[in-house]
Amino acid sequence: MSLDLRYPALSDLKAACRRRIPRFVWEYLDSATGTEAVTPRNRAALEAVCLRPGVLRGTLEPRLDTRLLGQDYAMPVGVAPLGMSGLIWPGAEGLLARMAATERLPYCLSTVATRLPEEIGPLAGDMGWFQLYPPRDPDIRRDILKRARDAGFRVLILTVDVPAPSRRERQLRAKLTIPPRLTPGMLAQMLPCPAWSLGQARLGQPRLRLMEGYMKAAGPTGSTAHVGYLLRTNPDWDYLRALRAEWDGPLVVKGVLEGADAARMVTEGADAIWVSNHAGRQFEGAPASLHALPGVRAAVGDTVPVIFDGGVEGGLDILRALALGADFVMLGRPWHHALGALGARGPSHLAAILRADLIANLHQMGLDNPAAARGRQWVPDTPPAA
Ligand SMILES: Cc1cc2nc3c(=O)[nH]c(=O)nc-3n(C[C@H](O)[C@H](O)[C@H](O)COP(=O)(O)O)c2cc1C
Repeated sequence: MSLDLRYPALSDLKAACRRRIPRFVWEYLDSATGTEAVTPRNRAALEAVCLRPGVLRGTLEPRLDTRLLGQDYAMPVGVAPLGMSGLIWPGAEGLLARMAATERLPYCLSTVATRLPEEIGPLAGDMGWFQLYPPRDPDIRRDILKRARDAGFRVLILTVDVPAPSRRERQLRAKLTIPPRLTPGMLAQMLPCPAWSLGQARLGQPRLRLMEGYMKAAGPTGSTAHVGYLLRTNPDWDYLRALRAEWDGPLVVKGVLEGADAARMVTEGADAIWVSNHAGRQFEGAPASLHALPGVRAAVGDTVPVIFDGGVEGGLDILRALALGADFVMLGRPWHHALGALGARGPSHLAAILRADLIANLHQMGLDNPAAARGRQWVPDTPPAA
């Protein structure tokens, strides 16, 4: 039976993923901070946006290819960075990088991935973006930038919405530490998940390989807290300026929700702004990222690329974000739901779902490309009666 009949939508992949990965891993992937109110907030904001249909347009053959920061992509969709991706599915970083190279979509590798930039860069080809959690030490920062550049990563993403660790209460309840320290309870959760467990056994325990190298260089402490020390500086505008001076490729700032911040980042040399609330994992007080999007777009003007993420589950959501001002949309958890459900075949299947969904909805809107969705949200002509 074709994958489309068994898994027609992301929700099918998500349900299968949940069955096939251990519970503590699911809790890592799925949890937000506090009472997790941001998760439904992101979804509700997307679902509330209706789009204008367009009829009597004759034959349309929508084209999805999109240019961003000097590179052509097959559609305005990519893979957001997930730390410890290889914990969620064995070999996730390599599988996603290969998919990205084949499908011509960007893949963003996290600083706290379980694979090194030198391993993943060549697999992503010219589709690689590298996400930086700001190291405290400028020498470590410069070394990471050089390694990322030498490994072929073209675009640098500076994440600014993790000024300090957040409390992830659900992860605490699941007894999860990063990197994971296995308890008997966790081993019991692995038993019903043979594909995940055998894959991990084959590849070895997922570790923060990039940061480990610097930990060893820094001395014998070797603890996770030390990774936190190495990375958890709360960067400031001087840091952004220094990074701009050190990276000669496109620089994107991720985790922006305020228009005024976005405008200043552009003045300081950022090439694009990435609107995100980190899937609700950092600040439960954050607005839905979709609600922040129009303000950021208005603040940076029409020519600066704006990237969006947060709760996107299909092609229609992508068009909703494009309507409200995004140029490009990234998904984080969904690619991992696809991996969990189908292993190596999952991400390409998700790309196929998104492509088909985008095309179907563009036909309904009478549009022949996704960028034309800008401003096509439905605004009622008359306000509802009081
Ligand atoms: C398990 C997990 C780990 C994440 N790790 C990182 C990270 O290392 N760096 C980063 O910039 N964002 C990280 N994020 C945030 C994602 O890049 C992205 O902003 C978010 O997941 C998008 O929402 P979505 O998952 O609903 O598509 C992480 C998100 C999740 C769920």
